Amino acid sequence: MQTLKLQRLKQALDARAEQHLLRTPQTLQQYNGRVVTVADNDYLNFCGNDYLGLATAPQVLQAYADGALKYGAGSTGSPLVTGQHDVHQQLSEQLCEWLGAERILLFSSGFAANHAMLTTLCDKHDTLLLDKLSHASLIDGALHSSALFKRFAHNDYAGLSTLLQRHAGAMVVTEGVFSMDGDSPDLNTVSNLCQKNGAMLLLDDAHGLGVFGTEGRGTAAEQGVRRAEVFCTMANFGKALGVGGAFVAGSKTVIDYLEQFGRHYVYSTALSPALCAAVIASIHLCRADNWRRDKLHCNISLFRRLASDLPLLASSSAIQGLVLGSSEKALALSQKLKTAGIWLSAIRPPTVPKGSARLRITLSAQHEEADIKLLVQTLRQSL
Ligand SMILES: Cc1ncc(COP(=O)(O)O)c(C=O)c1O
Repeated sequence: MQTLKLQRLKQALDARAEQHLLRTPQTLQQYNGRVVTVADNDYLNFCGNDYLGLATAPQVLQAYADGALKYGAGSTGSPLVTGQHDVHQQLSEQLCEWLGAERILLFSSGFAANHAMLTTLCDKHDTLLLDKLSHASLIDGALHSSALFKRFAHNDYAGLSTLLQRHAGAMVVTEGVFSMDGDSPDLNTVSNLCQKNGAMLLLDDAHGLGVFGTEGRGTAAEQGVRRAEVFCTMANFGKALGVGGAFVAGSKTVIDYLEQFGRHYVYSTALSPALCAAVIASIHLCRADNWRRDKLHCNISLFRRLASDLPLLASSSAIQGLVLGSSEKALALSQKLKTAGIWLSAIRPPTVPKGSARLRITLSAQHEEADIKLLVQTLRQSL
């Protein structure tokens, strides 16, 4: 029996390799945001999510170290048993104050938070309507919930409107910034459609928090959508905030319910208190250091201007997609960039739809003008 099972696993791995879809983690020797060191070579890094350079900010590192000395390395239990410390409470309160949320709940990752949000809040009486390009954690959450699950074409408001006419009172799920394309929906249009049809809007703002809005409050704030129009929002601490973990924000009732029934929260070790201390420091810098956001947006504009002749997807976020089509092409370009000292991994199916393998270029406040010029020049020469 075991031999047969292992054979089937091996066949699946071989098939992935034949299709150029096998992924191998690369080990970084050193990371400073702008530059990564791999096998003793330095590369300009254009493929992280550390958009504001907070992962290596001295104040964040100090808070992490101090937190570990004060609280220990881990939380040692689930939040409802022994795992909650005062620093978890402080982080929750600061998030509420920053984002104007009634309540928030902390999760160990964005994947867990999204999965909990959909599987816990949606039951057999609900219909979930998801954008076609939703993150895997949202798709899995929808599949594993007992709600009826439908998808609409990416940012297709007419398609969403038709679905909402058939499924009034549905729960509509979209992202502030789509993780592989870097574009954003018109959240006012989505919110209006929801209100017209008695539907609820659930938002994943993993790549919008910190990057958009006053003090980095996120995509809904940037677009002038009021918090009350959003049923709940998931965002994480591992992207622009540079640390790890996530939260769901919503009304008291929504979060009280998640706290009682969200299995990913109840039956999982709480975030490490030291990590919470680091996130608090990171939020402080994110809010106070407007120069980080300004520099990031300058870098995005510079890149778009210099690369205007390249086949880029439309995006004003830190994520810039260069679609190449086949996985072989994406891998070959990634390899050429590596030879030129640029770290930019190829993104292939099933992360992106078949035939749309790409380079997902990410910009950061840490990049210098010369870095972006070199990237564009190398892309142009290699394409
Ligand atoms: C849009 C989106 N949602 C959720 C997640 C999951 O977040 P985490 O990496 O914290 O598990 C990611 C990260 O890959 C993401 O890009």
